[in-house]
Amino acid sequence: MMRAAVIGAGFGEQHLAWLRNCPEAECGLLVYGQNREKAEKIATEYGVPRVSDDVRDAFDDAYDLTVIAAPVDLHAEIAEEALGRGKWVVCEKPLTLTVESAESVVRAAEAAGVPHMTMFQWRFHPAFGTLRDMITDGRLGRVVHMDLQFHHDFLAGPSTAFSWRHTKSRAAAGAFADQGVHLFDLLNWTTGQEYAILGAASSIVWPIRTTREGSPVPGRTEDVGSVLAQSPGGTIATISVLRVTGGHRRLRVTASGTDAVVSVEVCPDTSEGRLDSSVAGESATWPAGSLENPYPAFLASNTGGTDARIPDFSAGLAAQRLLESAAAHSPAVLSE
Ligand SMILES: NC(=O)c1ccc[n+]([C@@H]2O[C@H](COP(=O)([O-])OP(=O)(O)OC[C@H]3O[C@@H](n4cnc5c(N)ncnc54)[C@H](O)[C@@H]3O)[C@@H](O)[C@H]2O)c1
Repeated sequence: MMRAAVIGAGFGEQHLAWLRNCPEAECGLLVYGQNREKAEKIATEYGVPRVSDDVRDAFDDAYDLTVIAAPVDLHAEIAEEALGRGKWVVCEKPLTLTVESAESVVRAAEAAGVPHMTMFQWRFHPAFGTLRDMITDGRLGRVVHMDLQFHHDFLAGPSTAFSWRHTKSRAAAGAFADQGVHLFDLLNWTTGQEYAILGAASSIVWPIRTTREGSPVPGRTEDVGSVLAQSPGGTIATISVLRVTGGHRRLRVTASGTDAVVSVEVCPDTSEGRLDSSVAGESATWPAGSLENPYPAFLASNTGGTDARIPDFSAGLAAQRLLESAAAHSPAVLSE
């Protein structure tokens, strides 16, 4: 039985839901930063016996697995401490704030020799797995263009629930860090190629936001961004992220090859998905709830299991390189 400590009671709740569905794991601790009442409520709901506001409690011998779902500026230090103690580590995306610190975390993971995973969960949606298989086995011919879009509205309007997300030193970036890294990873993973960023543009839509309590939060990270990238083999990639599109949520990847075109669209909320293809007989749909729980594959590393979908920390580092490059190419400007 793997005993987990989950750090962060925001998206950390999703990790608790995944872990609850794994008979081979149990969560013994939920660490929060500010809101004990919320953490206690979530802990009760998921049967977690202990809550704490001290991250050091996660390093107790009582826990084998550290799940990091705290703001991005905390990832590297927690990951390295946990790895140094021989714990398995699952870390939310982006892996860290910078390429340099991500490289350090990858070195720590290699030295520890324990399983580790960056939470790029979209690899575990069968629609993206099918797309990857179609590219890998040549059904599209030579892939010449990839177009990736992740549009969301969780920051539509001038208020925000996340003061840390609007400061580069806490979040690494804005929409490129929120949604862009998922697309960078899907691009790398589905095509098996490395990409260089050739250009990018980004903008801040709300330069002053307010918290739910009404305090002002300067918006210093991009709300909208687009990137142009290319692989050494010549494949061109266009990537766009928006986090302010009221009423609109969509994750879509289109791969255009010399023989065929495939487009995958997944609803980020329900994970209902569809694949449309110009290859005869290759279209498909998936019902709501089709995103697989990433934990069973990860936990199977315990018994020698290897699953090519597991995004280890080197995948996190590869996405971090694209993130840092995209941000460097595009100082965010205010949109009118
Ligand atoms: N994989 C995904 O699709 C996905 C989705 C959402 C968020 N995330 C990632 O999850 C992470 C957290 O984002 P979020 O949306 O949950 O943010 P959030 O602000 O909702 O939650 C952050 C949590 O961390 C806690 N926290 C803050 N400081 C802490 C500290 N010093 N010690 C312990 N806990 C502390 C807060 O109390 C809160 O519970 C980020 O890395 C984000 O990118 C990933």
